[in-house]
Order: sequence, then structure tokens, then C-alpha cells
Amino acid sequence: MATEIRVALSHGPPDPVSLPLPGCLNCQEQVRLQEREHLARELHDALGSLLMSAKLDIACIQPEVNRISPAASEHLRHLTDILNQAMALKRRIIDGLDPPLLSKHGLVKSVANLARDFSSASGIGVTTTLSDVALPAGAQLAVYRLVEEALTNIGKYANASRCSITLRKAGDAVQVEVEDDGVGFTVKEQDNFGHGLMGMKQRIEACAGELLVESAPGRGTRLQACLPLNRVAAH
Ligand SMILES: Nc1ncnc2c1ncn2[C@@H]1O[C@H](COP(=O)(O)OP(=O)(O)OP(=O)(O)O)[C@@H](O)[C@H]1O
Ligand SMILES: [Mg+2]
Repeated sequence: MATEIRVALSHGPPDPVSLPLPGCLNCQEQVRLQEREHLARELHDALGSLLMSAKLDIACIQPEVNRISPAASEHLRHLTDILNQAMALKRRIIDGLDPPLLSKHGLVKSVANLARDFSSASGIGVTTTLSDVALPAGAQLAVYRLVEEALTNIGKYANASRCSITLRKAGDAVQVEVEDDGVGFTVKEQDNFGHGLMGMKQRIEACAGELLVESAPGRGTRLQACLPLNRVAAH
């Protein structure tokens, strides 16, 4: 890997106390995550049960309507289609707010599921080495989104035959690596970082971390994020 960009820590040296200060980034991030989880739960429970009871009502009257009016029956079928679409949309919005299984099953299982789904959709072999690391919710989401976008990029650009995902504790930090053996690219943050790589960088930095992007044409790509445990513990 010839080209390397090191993205500097956006924060200074560690604070003497690890508790979040009022109004600090950690608190804001924590509040934001709680709001998202709350919204996801409301959508799931309240909107979900409204849509389901509308579907059940339709199923109840459908046989009678079928008997009386074929035209009205067709409208009911159309209405059921619309409700199914609304339920699918609700699911997609919830998944965006609280990625599948992350808050429920934790990072290791969620990343393993991402890897499995990506591998079966793309045909690219994925090796995973995932240790259970004690990251707070905000940092878990940053790691999950990093792996998700890295795999999307591999599927779109890398033409790789294999890739690997590693999550491990290294001293007082957590390291995440996604590596592929594909075509690689010339890393120029100002020129060719899109929303994907910039988003990763911002999320990792918001957790006081560091992102390293290593790649070169013909040499594959390696993304490595390092999240210091003592700085992210308050998230
Ligand atoms: N694994 C990879 N292999 C080869 N090229 C890559 C890989 N990952 C990223 N790239 C290159 O880096 C560029 C920037 O990626 P980034 O994810 O930031 O943006 P994008 O995928 O082009 O668009 P989006 O904003 O939708 O993510 C890509 O257009 C691609 O050229
Ligand atoms: Mg991308």
C-alpha cells in the first residue's frame, strides 16, 4: 500500500476526568442517540400497530366485499398493497435510525450479520475476526456505519476476491479494520473522498478517534479506525 492519509484526532489530549461535561459533544451525541432510539421505538410500536390493525380490519371484511362487489374488492386489495408498502417504509426508516440488531444484539453479531449478508449478495468471501469490545452506543454506531459503508464501497468499486473485517481491543483502544484485495485507488482526501469516506471520518472523530485510509492502484484498500477507550467511554 503506497499511499496513506492519516486523519488527525479532532480532540486534544485526554481530559483529566472522563465524565461528560454539560453541553459537550459527548452529551449532545448521547441525547441525539436517545432521541433516535425513542423515535425508532415509537415508529415500531405505535405506527406499526396502527398499520397492522388496518390490515386486520381489511382481512375481516374482504370475504364479504368479495361476495357483494368485485370492484370494491379490487380497491381493498389495492389498499392492502398500500399498507404493505407503508409497513416496508416504516421498517426502512427504523433501520436507518437504529441499524438492524445493533441496540438489541450488540456490535459483534450485527457486524457478523452485515458480513454474511454482503458475502451472499456479492459472492465476495469475507473473513471476520470480531472480539467483544466494550464500546458505548455512539461509538458502536460509528463502527457499524463504517463497516457498512466500507462493504458498500468494496461491492461498488473494488472488484475484490476477498475481504476481511477485524474488531479488536489493542491496549486502551479499539481497532476496526476493513481490508480488501481489490483494485485500490489513489487516496486524496480533498479530491476523491465522497460522502461515504467523509462520513466515516466525521463519525470516528466525533468519538475522539482516528481514521486511516490506505490504498493504491492495484494494491487493495485498508481502512483502519482507532477509538481510544478512555475517551469514548462517556458516550
Ligand atoms: N474499497 C475500495 N476499492 C476501490 N476504490 C474505492 C474503495 N473505497 C472507496 N473507493 C474510491 O473512493 C471514492 C470515494 O468513496 P466514498 O465512499 O467516499 O464516496 P462514493 O462511494 O463515491 O459515494 P458515496 O457518497 O455514495 O459513498 C470512490 O468513488 C472510489 O473511487
Ligand atoms: Mg461510498
